[in-house]
Amino acid sequence: MIEAMALSKRFGSIEAAKDVSFVARDGEITGLLGANGAGKSTCLRMLYGVLTPDGGRACIDGIDIRGETSKARAHLGVLPHAAGLYNNLTARENIRYFGSLHGMTAARLRSRTAELSLALGMDGFIERRAKGFSQGQRIKVALARALVHDPGNVVLDEPTNGLDVMAIRNLREGPGSVRAVLLARHAGSGGAVRSSGDHRPGQGVGGRDSSGNSRTQRCCDAGRSIFAGARRH
Ligand SMILES: Nc1ncnc2c1ncn2[C@@H]1O[C@H](COP(=O)(O)OP(=O)(O)OP(=O)(O)O)[C@@H](O)[C@H]1O
Ligand SMILES: [Mg+2]
Repeated sequence: MIEAMALSKRFGSIEAAKDVSFVARDGEITGLLGANGAGKSTCLRMLYGVLTPDGGRACIDGIDIRGETSKARAHLGVLPHAAGLYNNLTARENIRYFGSLHGMTAARLRSRTAELSLALGMDGFIERRAKGFSQGQRIKVALARALVHDPGNVVLDEPTNGLDVMAIRNLREGPGSVRAVLLARHAGSGGAVRSSGDHRPGQGVGGRDSSGNSRTQRCCDAGRSIFAGARRH
């Protein structure tokens, strides 16, 4: 579970986020929606601890990201906007580098990389250097890198270029145990979501269907108003 509680951030005169609160629950894909410049990336960067909020706090599985950063990050995978790869490293080496930063053993790294490579269809290019990779190949490696330490929660900043919504949904059914997915998207980028009409901050309806709760989406407007919604079928 990922919780944002009254997060605020200013850059000089720009109020990038003001009192933003939402919860990305286990068993759900939560959308953080907003126009360009609405503050989505700013909120995500506060969630994963690279930006210090002016006010409010964020917790991953109940662990305060600023209080216990390493412990919280062990529970969180991050796919930042325009995630860069090291072009001179192979796909495997890019993944291994991140895994070693998380303190994974060589044996665990090997088995986890094999698992992710199979699940994401990377076997054909896992030993190739990243220079020249297609958009889809790059995003798969960046995603494997985000998931290498088997976090329970994942944050994706506009991953839709080269990674389709089905692939994102499959994250939760794929290798490891991703429980909560938080996905930032441009509000006008075609997501099939609708407001539930319930605009109470921090609360949501979470539409569920007969296939279980994997199709549930909660949607938060990155500005001041927050709502929840369900996928339109
Ligand atoms: N480091 C920074 N310095 C100054 N202003 C910043 C900084 N980071 C973000 N901003 C500003 O804060 C506002 C929110 O930016 P942010 O990147 O969070 O928006 P966004 O919702 O992710 O937009 P997009 O859909 O374009 O990715 C913008 O006005 C942006 O220019
Ligand atoms: Mg952004």
